[in-house]
Amino acid sequence: MAQIHIRNTGERIRGEAEVKAFLDKQGVLYEHWDINQIPDRLQNKFTLSDTEKEEVLASLDNDIKRLASTRGYIKWDVITLSEATPDLDALLKKFEQVHTHTEDEVRAITAGSGVFIIKGAPEVGYFDVELEAGDVISVPENNPHFFTLTSEKKVVAIRLFIDPSGWVAHPFADPAFA
Ligand SMILES: [Fe+2]
Repeated sequence: MAQIHIRNTGERIRGEAEVKAFLDKQGVLYEHWDINQIPDRLQNKFTLSDTEKEEVLASLDNDIKRLASTRGYIKWDVITLSEATPDLDALLKKFEQVHTHTEDEVRAITAGSGVFIIKGAPEVGYFDVELEAGDVISVPENNPHFFTLTSEKKVVAIRLFIDPSGWVAHPFADPAFA
């Protein structure tokens, strides 16, 4: 289940209701999906063939379509990152820069874990959302953030888009980010 870590105060927020309440206040969507809908053999697999990716999507079709219909997403896919990913460390370095998009960034973690670092309200500042399998998040459009992996360095996630072209990363130079 997701946890929040507020960088300025060191405060941690745990528990689905508490995490959801905090993220609601920051304008960040949070849901938790039942990943046991995914076939067992795919639940902890970090290299997936195109057919297996389609199977993951099909197993969560109800959740995906419900979220898509409430938020207007029309496309979705599956991405994987692990030690098997070529140049993983270089890729992570590229990710770990504060940026924005003109479209919200939606991720449903289906295996492994990851962290979104998000700029909150002025009195909150930057906070980390540590995500595990089943956690679903949407970083609002134009909200500074970045994504990285946890120490296990592996994740499978579903991305949902309104228009993939709106998902270009725009660097956001922020002196407030430490
Ligand atoms: Fe992003």
